[in-house]
Formats: sequence, structure tokens, C-alpha cells
Amino acid sequence: MFRRLPIGYLASNATSLIGVVLVNTGFILWLMLLPSWWHDEMNHPYAGILANLILPVLFFGGLAMIPIGIWYHNRKMHLAGVKGPIPPRGGDLRKLLIFVGLTTVVNLVIGSQFLYSAVNYMDSDAFCGKTCHTVMQPEYTAYSNSPHARVACVECHIGPGAPWFVKAKISGTRQLFAVAFHTYPRPIPSPVEALRPARDTCERCHWPQQFGGQKVFVHTEFAVDEQNTAATTVASVKIGGRSWSGTVGIHGAHVNATGHMDYVATDRRQTIPQVTYTAPDGKVTVYNSTDAPAKPEDLAKGEHRLMDCMDCHNRPTHIFQLPERALDLAMTQGSISAKLPFIKKQALEALKREYADRDTAHREIAASLENFYKTNYQQTYAQDLSLIQNAVASVQGIYERNVFPEMKITWGTYPNNLGHTDTPGCFRCHDGNHTSAGGLTISNDCATCHDLLAVSEKNPKILTDLGMAPPPSGSAGGGSSK
Ligand code: HEC
Ligand code: HEC
Ligand code: HEC
Ligand code: HEC
Ligand code: HEC
Repeated sequence: MFRRLPIGYLASNATSLIGVVLVNTGFILWLMLLPSWWHDEMNHPYAGILANLILPVLFFGGLAMIPIGIWYHNRKMHLAGVKGPIPPRGGDLRKLLIFVGLTTVVNLVIGSQFLYSAVNYMDSDAFCGKTCHTVMQPEYTAYSNSPHARVACVECHIGPGAPWFVKAKISGTRQLFAVAFHTYPRPIPSPVEALRPARDTCERCHWPQQFGGQKVFVHTEFAVDEQNTAATTVASVKIGGRSWSGTVGIHGAHVNATGHMDYVATDRRQTIPQVTYTAPDGKVTVYNSTDAPAKPEDLAKGEHRLMDCMDCHNRPTHIFQLPERALDLAMTQGSISAKLPFIKKQALEALKREYADRDTAHREIAASLENFYKTNYQQTYAQDLSLIQNAVASVQGIYERNVFPEMKITWGTYPNNLGHTDTPGCFRCHDGNHTSAGGLTISNDCATCHDLLAVSEKNPKILTDLGMAPPPSGSAGGGSSK
């Protein structure tokens, strides 16, 4: 009886039979999971791998096993001189054809859903950021706290179009092996080799021609004295863009639509011995470093690059802080109270100490800060325990967002090129020592890029003039920061 059913022809051997079982199991699981896919809830890193990647392999693997089994079985019979089963005829053939036709339609539906969800899943932030937890934890953590936390990894790392999609999948497969065999580099090197140019990623959301005007930043720095004395710098950065007088300012000079800037870098783009600027009118100026001139063979060997957004904004989303900056920000925002004596100094020391792992750091940061107040400031410890506890939590948070011993990432591992006070940044070129044959120098004049409205002042008058809150002092919270 079984042999008369279409499935009987299809599964008359062990291989095909296993295939049929796999396909049916896959089908039932697929039906069960369909609601989760429908509501886009299938993005948990591990459940996601099972449902989006392993299940389709089982299903299609099973499907492929059916004809392979039949072919192999028939060949074996043929070689053994045994006459194979009589091919179905008449009503049986019709039954078989209808069965194969119907199941093909069902398989196409399931297959396209599988394909769609697998592609979607591999582009999800959960897959990119959380599957290889240890490896991607630093980038994922920084990303989750950044202005781009709602922008998908693939928007910047892959962008639209098939060629980059395929490229990403090929390099992704290589990375999968690196993770499986623990051969990946720690830390992951930056700059990213062959990151897609900004015009295909950043510029799909940001429109450089539309940047305009200036951006005021206010930065309060706290001293490492008992009062945590605050000093505030206010500057107006000339972001620029297109104006009635052409392209101006920072964006106008480097990323305008008609001119372009090319450079040669050595040392992971941190040393730039030569810059070639092609102005919108076609005039070319070559600037060479005069204090550290490169030999022609080093220039030939160096990385040749067309400057784009990423050369300044190399940390638009994986923003790792430095401990001083992170503490200043937390103290400005009030999550660490500047009322606690010596808190900047103590917190800084706790952050800069080396710990075996993140758990030890978590414990010892708390212990060292609490002990300090218990021993030296009993009254503060008794009255302001909640302030101390908040500060501890905040300092632990700073450590955990920035230091990842397992990936060998510590303070300053990834330099930020936007600025010049913590890393060379703009001064890789604007150091006053990059000069052309015609005697032009890439400007180092402070007013080229910003108007410094106040530098390390106790209570800058400009903030009152602008109607902005005064910076926090040793006894009051509040204020604003960049
Ligand atoms: C707003 C754009 C953007 C988004 C969104 C983004 N990245 Fe990045 N990513 C970058 C840039 C830019 C770099 C560094 C470029 C350079 O200097 O080569 C980078 C570098 C990296 C690096 C190399 C190590 C490093 O820190 O330089 C890893 C790994 C990485 N990203 C993973 C991710 C993951 C995982 C996600 C999603 C959770 C993600 N990225 C989302 C822009 C982005
Ligand atoms: C999918 C769209 C998208 C892409 C792609 C994108 N951004 Fe953004 N970007 C945004 C949005 C939205 C904001 C505003 C976020 C906010 O203010 O909360 C933003 C904010 C910014 C800011 C201001 C951050 C701040 O401190 O306020 C910078 C700088 C920036 N992006 C640079 C980049 C660079 C560089 C890239 C390419 C590596 C990029 N963006 C790619 C959407 C995008
Ligand atoms: C020469 C360096 C440089 C280049 C190249 C550059 N930027 Fe900027 N950009 C800056 C600086 C400096 C600021 C202001 C400082 C800040 O936001 O902290 C800024 C600010 C921004 C902002 C925030 C504007 C605001 O009003 O808050 C965005 C968005 C931005 N840039 C996007 C881009 C994009 C997209 C590109 C590429 C087309 C690009 N930038 C190229 C240096 C650069
Ligand atoms: C790769 C080298 C390089 C880097 C890095 C660089 N610049 Fe420039 N920048 C130049 C060159 C070259 C010029 C001069 C173009 C010309 O000849 O007009 C210039 C011009 C400018 C100008 C216009 C000056 C004027 O006189 O109009 C501003 C503003 C500026 N840069 C700001 C910045 C800021 C801010 C940063 C860092 C965030 C930065 N640059 C990083 C190479 C660089
Ligand atoms: C090539 C452009 C450029 C030049 C030239 C330049 N700066 Fe800056 N400067 C910047 C940028 C960009 C930032 C960072 C803005 C930000 O973080 O948003 C900055 C930040 C600063 C800060 C604030 C640091 C902080 O966060 O507390 C100070 C102070 C400063 N610059 C002083 C100077 C002085 C003094 C000179 C002249 C010797 C100078 N700069 C020349 C581009 C420049």
C-alpha cells in the first residue's frame, strides 16, 4: 500500500527516507516559528542562528537528500544488475506529478521565507553585534551608547547594492572561522581594511552640502584637587558647508563636491607625511611634512587614500572615551557629584589601575572608593552615602564601557581623530609643518577652525550672555557639556 503512495516512490531507500523526515521536521518547526518571524522577533543571537541559519540547512539538506537517495539507489541496483522499480504509470504517475507539483509550491514559499529571514537576520545588529559576544562586545557596547545606536551596523559597514553584500558575506565567512579557531586579532585592528567609502554610507543620511554655520561646544574640566575645581572652555567650531560665498569651514574645505583631498599615511593613518589638495578650480597643491619628511620609498609604500568623512569622524559610533574626559562628562551631568572631596582624583586612579578582568574591576572600584571616604572623610561617608554609591556605579559604568581586557582594549586603544587635544587628529596635517613647494602651509592658526570664546575659565561670562547654565562648581551640579 505504502509503495503506491507518491511518497513511497520518493523514499524507497534510507537516504531519501531520512530526507523526507528532515523536510517534514523542518516544515513543522517552520510552521511553529512562523508567528515569531511574522512579528520580527527572531533576532535573539542564538535562537536566531538556529531558526534562521541551521533550520533552512536542515530543510534544504533534507530536500536534496530525496533525489540523491533515489539516484544512488537506482544506480546501485543497476550496477548489481537488478531491475529497478517499475516507473509509475497512468494514475500513479498523475498522483506523483500532482504531489511533486504541490510540494514544490510549498517548498518555494518556505524557501523564499527562509532566504528572506536568513538575509535579514545576517544583517541584524543582534547577529553582527552579539553572536560572537566577546569579539564584538567592545564595538557593540560603544555603539549602543552612541548617537547612531538606532542605525544598523550594515548601514555603515556594508551599505546598499549586491557587490558589497557579497563581499561582506565572503569576509564574514572568513571571520566565522577566525572566531571558531580563536585566531582573530585582539584588539580588532582599526582602521578597518577596505571600509566602504563614506559617499555610499554616511552620505546616504548626511548631506555634506547642507552643513552650515558653527557649533558651540562647552567643556568643563575638573581638577584633581580636594574641591574638584571646575574650569570651562567654550568654543564655536566652524563646521561650515555651503554658503553664499562658496564652500566654507571645516566641511567645505575637505568634503566639498568638486575639490578633493588625497593623502599618504604611514602608521595606521596616524602619521601623514604628504597631502595633495585639488581645489574646485583644478589647482593642485602638494603639502609635505617638513619636521618629519618621508623618504620617497616610504611614500610609495604608505597607504594612499582619498579623504572622506571617516578620516575625521573615525569614531562616529564606536566612541571609546578617555578616563579624564569620561569623568568630566559624568561630573558635568551630575551622575558623579562634584561635592565629594577628591572624587575626580580617586575615580581617575581607580579607572587607570590594571585589573585582571571586568568582575575584579567592578568589585575593586567600589571597594577603593568606599574605603577612601570611610577612612578619610567619615562625615561625608555618613551623610552622603548615596552620592558615593551613585559615583561608584557611574565609575564602574565608565570602566565597563571602555575597557575590555579580553580583547586587549584599554584607554586610548582606538584614537579619535576629531580634534587635537587627546590625539594628533586634525594636527596630523594642521601642525604648521606641512608646507608646499610654493611656500603655502596647512594652517595651524587657532581661529582657522574655532573661535575660542573662553579657555579654562571658572565661570565664563559668555555662558551667561548665551543664556546657558553656569558650569557646575564644587558645591552645585547641573551645567552642560559638548
Ligand atoms: C555610523 C556608522 C557605523 C555603525 C552604525 C556601525 N559602525 Fe562599526 N565602524 C564604523 C567606523 C567609521 C569604523 C572605523 C573606521 C576606521 O577607522 O576604519 C568602525 C569600526 C568597526 C570595527 C573595527 C574596530 C574598531 O573599533 O575600529 C568593528 C569590529 C565594528 N565597527 C563593528 C560594528 C558592529 C558590530 C556594529 C553594529 C552593532 C557597527 N560596527 C555599527 C562605523 C559604524
Ligand atoms: C542610516 C542613517 C545614518 C547613517 C548611514 C549615518 N548616520 Fe550619522 N547620524 C544619523 C542620525 C539620525 C543622527 C542624529 C542622531 C541624534 O542626534 O540623536 C546622526 C548623527 C551624526 C553625527 C552627530 C553626532 C553627535 O555627536 O551629535 C555625526 C558626526 C555623524 N552622524 C556622522 C556620521 C558618519 C561619519 C557616518 C558614516 C560612517 C554616519 N554618520 C552614518 C544617521 C546616520
Ligand atoms: C576635516 C574633518 C572633517 C571631515 C572630513 C568631516 N567632518 Fe563632520 N565634523 C567635523 C568637525 C570638527 C565637526 C564639529 C565637531 C563635533 O561635532 O564634535 C563636525 C560635525 C559634523 C556633524 C554634526 C553637525 C552638527 O550640527 O552637530 C555631522 C552630522 C557631520 N560632521 C557629518 C559629516 C559627514 C557626513 C562627513 C562626510 C561627508 C563629514 N562630517 C566630514 C569634522 C569633519
Ligand atoms: C589629511 C590632512 C588633513 C587633516 C587630517 C585635516 N585637514 Fe584641514 N585642511 C587640510 C588641507 C591640505 C587644507 C588646505 C586646503 C587649501 O589649500 O585650501 C585644509 C583646510 C582646512 C580648513 C580651511 C582653512 C582655510 O584657510 O580656509 C579648515 C577650517 C580645516 N582644514 C579644518 C580641519 C579640522 C577641524 C580638522 C580635524 C577635524 C582637519 N582640518 C583635518 C588637510 C587636512
Ligand atoms: C585644524 C583645525 C584646528 C586648529 C588649527 C586648532 N584647533 Fe583646537 N580644536 C579643533 C577641533 C575640531 C576641536 C574639537 C571640537 C570638538 O570636540 O567638538 C578642538 C578643540 C580645542 C579645545 C578644546 C579641548 C577640550 O575639549 O577641552 C581647545 C582648548 C583648543 N581646541 C585649542 C586650540 C588652540 C589654542 C589652537 C591654536 C594653537 C587650536 N585649538 C587650533 C580644531 C582645531
